[in-house]
Amino acid sequence: MFIKDKDKTMKIARTIEELDAFREKLGEGTLAYVPTMGALHDGHLSLVRLARKKCDYVAVSIFVNPTQFAPDEDFNSYPRTEKEDAKKLEAEGVDILFLPTENVIYPEGKDLDIKAGNVAEGLETTFRPAFFDGVVNVVNRLFNAVKPDIAVFGEKDFQQLQVITQMVENESIPIKIIGAPTARDENGLALSSRNLYLSEDELVIARKLNIALREAAKTGDLEATGKALLDYGFDKIDYVETRWNRVLGAAWLGKTRLIDNIAIDEKVAAAAQ
Ligand code: PAF
Repeated sequence: MFIKDKDKTMKIARTIEELDAFREKLGEGTLAYVPTMGALHDGHLSLVRLARKKCDYVAVSIFVNPTQFAPDEDFNSYPRTEKEDAKKLEAEGVDILFLPTENVIYPEGKDLDIKAGNVAEGLETTFRPAFFDGVVNVVNRLFNAVKPDIAVFGEKDFQQLQVITQMVENESIPIKIIGAPTARDENGLALSSRNLYLSEDELVIARKLNIALREAAKTGDLEATGKALLDYGFDKIDYVETRWNRVLGAAWLGKTRLIDNIAIDEKVAAAAQ
């Protein structure tokens, strides 16, 4: 539906009541939603652009969700850049920015109501056992608050995209989930808020992750890829595995954990059958 004379200013909602009021003003226009944890980069903005193509209106949320961080992870130090983020989103023509506090999302404490389904098994869960339960709970609560028609998630977090798609099916949530291609820098490094943690030297090594996974996607030799990553200078490899016709990898550089995934060459996939 084409909305004439659309109000161009971005509305900022901090409570469910404010969000409901803005949501109501959209009338019958369709709403696309991009949930984020902020520290926005071009990868997030590419999700927002895709969302804009799909619906009349776009909502974005910024919420650093405590329940998806383990006690030894970077919840406290996670970059929080709300003002800069809001400017970027306004420039992208976002209609509603939802900035809830912890009390708005978890008014009765941080007990988790639902569990991630079986696609959460292995890969990330082997190393971050509580991560996807935290993700599905916050996304479910955010979906209930924002009530979008569609929601856009990056393919960089490929397992997360599968877990959320399964959660929406399991919970019969009437929202279409759309995956957006991974945005990369000129060297192929997948854009991530955590790249902000990397020193110049670490960035040089980080850029090898996509190169190694591309090689694995061509050759199918996952063991050689793990070794190559260590040779490049990664400190620890959590996994290099194939699933969903992709090679997925997670590796550490100092205190920073990077993930990425690459679609497998069709010929390699056919040969492996
Ligand atoms: O991918 C992220 O940024 C987060 O996991 C998400 C989906 C916003 C939930 O907190």
